Order: sequence, then C-alpha cells, then structure tokens
Amino acid sequence: MTETQKSATLSLNGETYELPIFSPTAGPDVLDIRKLYAKAGVFTYDPGFTSTASCDSTITYIDGDKGELLHRGYPIDQLASKSHYLEVCYLLLYGELPTVNQLEDFETRVTRHTMVHEQMHNFFRGFRRDAHPMATLVGVVGAMSAFYHDSLDVTDPWQREVAAVRLIAKLPTIAAMAYKYSIGQPFVYPKNDLDYAANFLHMCFSVPAEEYHVNPILSRAMDRILTLHADHEQNASTSTVRLASSSGANPFACIAAGIACLWGPAHGGANQACLEMLKEIGSVDRIPEYIARAKDKNDPFRLMGFGHRVYKNTDPRATVLKQSADEVLDLLGVEDNPLLQVAKELEQTALNDPYFIEKKLFPNVDFYSGIILEAMGFPTSMFTPIFALSRTVGWISQWKEMIADPQNKIGRPRQLYLGETLRDYVDIEKR
Ligand code: CMC
Repeated sequence: MTETQKSATLSLNGETYELPIFSPTAGPDVLDIRKLYAKAGVFTYDPGFTSTASCDSTITYIDGDKGELLHRGYPIDQLASKSHYLEVCYLLLYGELPTVNQLEDFETRVTRHTMVHEQMHNFFRGFRRDAHPMATLVGVVGAMSAFYHDSLDVTDPWQREVAAVRLIAKLPTIAAMAYKYSIGQPFVYPKNDLDYAANFLHMCFSVPAEEYHVNPILSRAMDRILTLHADHEQNASTSTVRLASSSGANPFACIAAGIACLWGPAHGGANQACLEMLKEIGSVDRIPEYIARAKDKNDPFRLMGFGHRVYKNTDPRATVLKQSADEVLDLLGVEDNPLLQVAKELEQTALNDPYFIEKKLFPNVDFYSGIILEAMGFPTSMFTPIFALSRTVGWISQWKEMIADPQNKIGRPRQLYLGETLRDYVDIEKR
C-alpha cells in the first residue's frame, strides 16, 4: 500500500480536510478516512460496504468489469486447468507457488491431519438425524475448539499454522460425516493414499460393505470445484471471519462464524437454491414465467445463480464450471439431463433480456456447480457444505494475514442512529 502525493479535499461546515489517497497495485484508488471522525467529527455511511475497503490484502484480486479473478496474481482459469486444489491452498496460504519439495511436505502435513478426534463421533450423535449438514458443520467446526486446545493461542505463529492445517485437512472429513449421519450410514475414515478430492468422494460415497473406486474424471471435476471456490477476497463470509477474529477469538470459532454466514441464499446457499429453482421450473416452456417473476418488483423471487456484487461482466469461475458440467454429464451419460437443458435455456434467455443486460446480471459460480454436484450423486443439502470446505483455505489465509498485520485492531463499525433521543422511563402502570 503506497500513500501517493494525491489527496482528496473534503469541504464541510466551512472547513476543509485533506484525505490521503492510497494507490493499490491493481484496482481503484482508496481514500484514507481513518482520521476523519477525530478531525471533522463525522462518520461515513456505507451499508453493505459497497464503497468501503475494510482492510488491505495481498491474497486475491477481482476486477469485476473485466471478469478477472487472480490469486496472488495468477488467473483462476490457469489455476483451474494447470494446478490442483492443494497447490492453490499453498499459494493462498504462503504467497507463492510451491516447489516440488514444498508441495510434498504440505500435502503430507494436510494428509496426516485428516482424521478427527474419535470423541467427535459422539458429538455428531447429538444432532437430529434430519439436520441440515450446514447446521451440523457450524456446530462441529465450532466444537473443534473444545478438542484441539494446543492450537487456540492466536498470538503463537506455530499454533496458527497447526490450526490452519487442521482446518483444511479435517473439513472434508467433517462434511462427509455430516452427510453420512444425515443418511444413516456409518462414518467412513479418510484414506491417506487418495488425493484431497478423491478422499472426499470416498468418505461420502463408500460403504464398509463394498469396494469403492473413485472415478478419476469425477475426482478431477471435484478438485476443480474446490479450486474455483478457494477464495474470493472480502466477501460476506470472509469479512465475517475477519470481524470475528478481530476480537482475538480462536480460529475454529471464527471459521464456524464464516460457515454460518456462507449458508445464506444470497451467498453460498445460492448453489442449493439454484438447483431447487431449476427443478421447480422443470421444463423450458416455463422459463418465460420465471423470467417475468424475476423482473417483477412486487415479487421477491430472484434468479438464483445470477448476479454478483463485484462481477459486472462475467464470473470467470462460471465459465470454467460450464465446461466442467458438460464433461461430467457426458462422462455419466446424462448429457440430455433436463436440468441442464433448463439451465442452458434460462441462461440464454436471461442474457438476451434487456432487464438482465441493463443490470449487468450474469450467471455466477453457483449456476453450474449444483448441476455437476447433483450428477455426481450429492443431494442439494450438501452443495453449500462443499462450498464451505473449499472456502476454508480462503478464510484461513485471510485470517492469518490479518493476525500477522501490526495494524490489526478490533472491528467496530459506527452507525447512523435514527432512534429515539433521550427520554425518561415511564412506570408500567402509566403506559
Ligand atoms: N434476479 C433478478 N434481479 C436481480 C438479481 C437476480 N438474481 N440480482 C440482482 N437483481 C436486481 C435487483 O433487484 C436490483 O434491481 P434494482 O436496481 O431495480 O433494485 C439490481 O439487480 C441490483 O441488485 P442488488 O441486490 O442491489 O445487488 P447486490 O450487489 O446487493 O447483490 C447478489 C448481489 C449476488 C446478492 C444478487 O445479485 C442476488 O441476490 N443474486 C441471487 C443469489 C445468488 O446467486 N448469489 C450467489 C452469489 S455468487 C457466490 C457467492 O457469493 O457466494
């Protein structure tokens, strides 16, 4: 972050205030308003943070107009086609692509932490059998702070590193256990000779009674889904993790907070909501009715999997996933899947409709991920847990960056108060 010679002048009540301007390595300049209240006695107002940079970061950059997503400078399409999830995890966590030895060491560390404490199995049994796997995930990840006491001290860099590896390694195990519990099947232990994505498929789909062989094309598609969701700069769940950890809360509690935020349908819950919407539409002849509803201001219905706060041209993750969807459905022999037909037709209709063109609403990552996951055999309730397990590395990388930053202070937004002013208490019999 470089403070330039440039500054902005604010005129207020006959006084002028100079606001320094920071120039980023990419993206728009940023006005520094940190001293504004102390000097001018006013707050800024920006609900939804549409114009506010909440931190500085070196991890991920998005150019919403170009439809560009870079991790540590590398474009997501190159990472999705040439790299794999654990290598991207290393890149996000440590800032550079690993050497052969560094990657091997990292993969070994992650692999050696894939099992969860055996007592955690009992913890699962406290949930109702029909609990949504996201509810289970929030609870069990939060409960990790009750099991891993030796990695709770956030002031110790070594403990932070152990917590990071534990979370990345155990999230697939916990997500798979949540799924198995919800369908009444026994938990499946991780298999360390499988790669990260294949091991997750194994824990979800194998049963003790039969041999299960992971199809390499499906594990590659799963790895790609994980890679595409790994980080997305200061989105709602990442900002939640940062805000939670700004108080010094332990990493497991902070990631549980991030998972809770991700669950909402405007964020990670959109992949489940999108597939449910496609099923509800059911056939291409009903598309015009749903497009009309999405445009109707008096109808709360929105096209799920469409629109994005930052991307106003294309979501580069959706472009890669669209191709993956074709490959996976082709492999599974379901290329004439009616959902895919509805999705493709819906996409074309919306992209040619003046409402969606004017508002710059394009398919986002959630539009195609659900179709792939469903074809693989996942129920819709598992879509958001899979998003959560892939995003864990992004949350952890941002968390580590924040804690190591000497400027780190507790997050404490101000408000525009519109309530009653001072008034006297009225005794209950006089109200
Ligand atoms: N369908 C119909 N209209 C829409 C949609 C949509 N999906 N998205 C936005 N609009 C309209 C909205 O009604 C508003 O119209 P107007 O200006 O007339 O009031 C305008 O477009 C701007 O919308 P906004 O809600 O102010 O934009 P936002 O940046 O606050 O919201 C969003 C972004 C992603 C929450 C929103 O586009 C949305 O709800 N999309 C559907 C849910 C979804 O797919 N979410 C996944 C996001 S990507 C993955 C992730 O982040 O987890």
